[in-house]
Amino acid sequence: MRIAVCPGSFDPATNGHIDIIERSGLLFDKVIVAVLNNPKKQPLFSVEERVEILKKTCGAMKNVEIDSFTGLLTEYAKSKNANVIVKGLRAVSDFEYELQMALMNKKLNPEIETVFMMTSSKYSYLSSSLVKEVARLGGCIKGLVPEIIEGEIYKRFK
Ligand code: PNS
Repeated sequence: MRIAVCPGSFDPATNGHIDIIERSGLLFDKVIVAVLNNPKKQPLFSVEERVEILKKTCGAMKNVEIDSFTGLLTEYAKSKNANVIVKGLRAVSDFEYELQMALMNKKLNPEIETVFMMTSSKYSYLSSSLVKEVARLGGCIKGLVPEIIEGEIYKRFK
C-alpha cells in the first residue's frame, strides 16, 4: 500500500494546497495531510482550526486523512507507515529550500522518498502568506482559499 504524507503549515490552506492534495489522492492509496504544530510560530489559525478546515474541505476525498504532527517529519511519516512525502512546487524560488529539505529528509530516513508535484498554473502565484497580506490590507481573496474560511480570514484581521 502506497501511503503518502502531504505536510505543511496550512495557515491557512489555500486552493493551491487543496489542488495538490486532491491530485495526490489520485496517485496514492492513502494521503495523510499533516499540519505542522510549530509552537515557535504565531499562527492565524490554531492547529485544531487548520485541521478542521482541511477536514471540511477534503471531506469528499475518500482516501485522504487529516492529522497534525510535531517534531521531525520523517519520524511522523514512519509512525504512519508512509513511504512518500508529497510537496507542491510553484516556482524556481521554491526549489532550493525544497531540495535542501528533501535531501535532509532522505539522510534522516533513506526509505522515504520525497515526490514533487507541480502546481496548477492558476495557483502558481499563491501562498498562505500572500493571502494573509492581501486580506489584511482589504484585498479580494475570492477563489484563493476554500470558501468556508474566506470571511473568517478577514475577521481575524479586524
Ligand atoms: O507549509 P510549510 O511551512 O512550507 O511546510 C514546511 C514543513 C512542515 C514541510 C517543514 O517545516 C517540516 O517538515 N517541518 C518538520 C520538522 C522537520 O522534520 N525538519 C527537518 C526536515 S528538513
